[in-house]
Amino acid sequence: REREIAKLYKVHEMARDFFHACLTKTKYGIQAKTYFLQRGINEKIIADFKLGFAPQSWSKLSEAFQKRGISDELLIESGLAAERSSGGVYDRFRNRVIIPICDERSRVVGFGGRVLDDSQPKYLNSSETLIFNKRRLLFGLDQAAKSIKESGFVIVVEGYMDAITAHNSGIKNVVASLGTAFTLEQCKKILRYAPEIRFAYDSDSAGQNATIRALSIIRGSGANVRIISIPDGKDPDEYIRKHGSAQFRKLIQDALPLVEYQMKRAFSEHDYSTLEGKVAVVEKLTPILAEMNNAVELNAYITRISQVIGVDEGAIRSEIHKSSGLARTRMVKPLN
Ligand code: GTP
Ligand code: MN
Ligand code: MN
Ligand code: MN
Ligand code: MN
Repeated sequence: REREIAKLYKVHEMARDFFHACLTKTKYGIQAKTYFLQRGINEKIIADFKLGFAPQSWSKLSEAFQKRGISDELLIESGLAAERSSGGVYDRFRNRVIIPICDERSRVVGFGGRVLDDSQPKYLNSSETLIFNKRRLLFGLDQAAKSIKESGFVIVVEGYMDAITAHNSGIKNVVASLGTAFTLEQCKKILRYAPEIRFAYDSDSAGQNATIRALSIIRGSGANVRIISIPDGKDPDEYIRKHGSAQFRKLIQDALPLVEYQMKRAFSEHDYSTLEGKVAVVEKLTPILAEMNNAVELNAYITRISQVIGVDEGAIRSEIHKSSGLARTRMVKPLN
């Protein structure tokens, strides 16, 4: 198994070099290079992230690797190729720009491939292997690690391109979850580098829902959480390219603490001029408030909610008391 894993690392490194050479040194790569340049991805980023291109062919990589003594079994096991029903193999990544995905120790463990146009699926990722586990990996972590430690927080974005553009604009404490929901494993991994996570997901509804999901997944992990909102339907990549990195740094600074983000959402989602609306807001915020362990902060929030929605502070307080036994002990503690 050890040997198998070593072989997988090796073949991924070879594939990264193959894709990178296709992009930078062959005629097949010209179109892909144009695509990158149009997205503001220049030669330096291409070199830093060893970006690549998988040619429009069923067998360019497979044939090249077979010639270099790589077995079909290893090509299939790595997910770089799939088995043909007629025997033999075909390349998984075809006519896509390639983003190598590295682990914390900068070993290549998988790839993301993007189409150059609007066709579907937009991204194709490596399949899960012994070394590629999407639930545990964070794109860009190896390059971001130093800056995460220095700044004391990590910014989590949705997309590869968001992370790449942020890095390129000098904001380096950025990682991307790999297109799947943020996991507790990813959270724990990050907490080894810094105690605070700032989410900067896309501002479309998919991104906002993904934020809510992430927040509930990491609840209780001890992570300090803030949420960065990106104005006008953008993702960080588009935002930085349109408004520049200084503006994005401002958004990072303005990130809302978890409770304030949830309050803002609750206020905007419900019509609290009605009784139903008031009840809904309090119901929504109760579990979050119950988890707070600073009584001064908690009091301040209760006062604010009470003022905004026009509900007596005592009523909000008693809902929080009811909400859970754990919350009750926390509530009592500061009064001792
Ligand atoms: P660009 O159009 O290249 O800027 O991509 P994006 O990152 O803005 O895409 P989007 O916001 O739609 O998706 C965020 C992330 O989800 C991507 O970076 C991918 O990791 C993942 N993703 C998006 N579309 C697909 C897809 O069709 N298949 C898979 N497997 N993952 C996807
Ligand atoms: Mn999408
Ligand atoms: Mn999106
Ligand atoms: Mn994008
Ligand atoms: Mn996006």
